[in-house]
Amino acid sequence: MATDRTYEEPQCVLLRLCVSAVKKSFPRVLHKQVFPFTGCTQRSRRDHLREWAAQCKLEVEEFMKTAAEVCPMCGGSGWKSAGSEHRVARCECRLKLRGETLLSAARIPKRYEHCELSNFEFDGPHAHLMKARMAACRFVEEYSPNNNTGLLLIGSIGTGKTHLAVGIIKELVVSKGIPCLFYDYRELLKQIQNSYNDSVTATELEVLRPVFEAEVLVLDEMGAVKPTEWVWDTVSLILNSRYNDNRTTIITTNYPDDAARDSNGNSEFARAQRAARSETLGDRIGDRMRSRLHEMCRIVKMEGQDFRQTLKSASFR
Ligand SMILES: Nc1ncnc2c1ncn2[C@@H]1O[C@H](COP(=O)(O)OP(=O)(O)O)[C@@H](O)[C@H]1O
Ligand SMILES: [Mg+2]
Ligand SMILES: [Zn+2]
Repeated sequence: MATDRTYEEPQCVLLRLCVSAVKKSFPRVLHKQVFPFTGCTQRSRRDHLREWAAQCKLEVEEFMKTAAEVCPMCGGSGWKSAGSEHRVARCECRLKLRGETLLSAARIPKRYEHCELSNFEFDGPHAHLMKARMAACRFVEEYSPNNNTGLLLIGSIGTGKTHLAVGIIKELVVSKGIPCLFYDYRELLKQIQNSYNDSVTATELEVLRPVFEAEVLVLDEMGAVKPTEWVWDTVSLILNSRYNDNRTTIITTNYPDDAARDSNGNSEFARAQRAARSETLGDRIGDRMRSRLHEMCRIVKMEGQDFRQTLKSASFR
């Protein structure tokens, strides 16, 4: 059964290139030599090529069809015309894709995924949060890589600091395509400490590099780890490195923005005074780092009750 069909060169340049590559790597001579052993029933390389080319063509057609279905504005190319004939711009589908990629790279914890500026309440019983929300919106509007003053959100537990910080970076990612990173202070220090463990493959620098390099970093609950010499050194490494590289940092803390309590005085009275006073940010990260924070950030105070308690008591009324 000799084949008399002639092999048609495919129209598509890509397919033609592939076919010519296969022609080189699959010479007739080779086929002739091996078919007695392999028992191949196909008669010539043309049949192989034809089948293979048809398969490729189907795959390319399928790919083009899927791409066109994905985005009707750009047909899957990612570019669309921008006004004049010769100008093109990134299609929204690519911007959206970039936003989604950046959002998953931002490491926002699952329990804060719902947090957005748009669902942060600031009226009625939450009117005291209006200033904070305005500061957050202004921060997003005015953000540029040259304007690297961050925010220091201060307030007691449940006043919405983390919600606001997450809302800010989500907005920066989605509306401006800025790469942001979220880290819980405790989690970060734990990961760095773990990296000293021989059984953990990540090195200290591997943990720290994204923290140093993130364009905008949220460090949530600063001061939440019991202060030690190592904690202070590590926090100062992070803050100083971001400060020197002009990078923007958003910090939240439950501790009041006061200096460390005076550690002098060992009288009964001094000790009683110290014990009566609750801890401050200065106590937790040291006065030097506290004053560095003041250079890096604008302070936003968030007063009020725990938001969850307000909701609960409202539902009992
Ligand atoms: N103003 C607000 N509007 C809507 N939800 C809020 C608001 N403030 C806090 N929440 C919600 O209350 C919970 C606690 O807030 P969170 O931001 O974790 O407080 P904080 O970080 O100050 O301890 C979160 O689920 C958050 O979404
Ligand atoms: Mg919080
Ligand atoms: Zn598109």
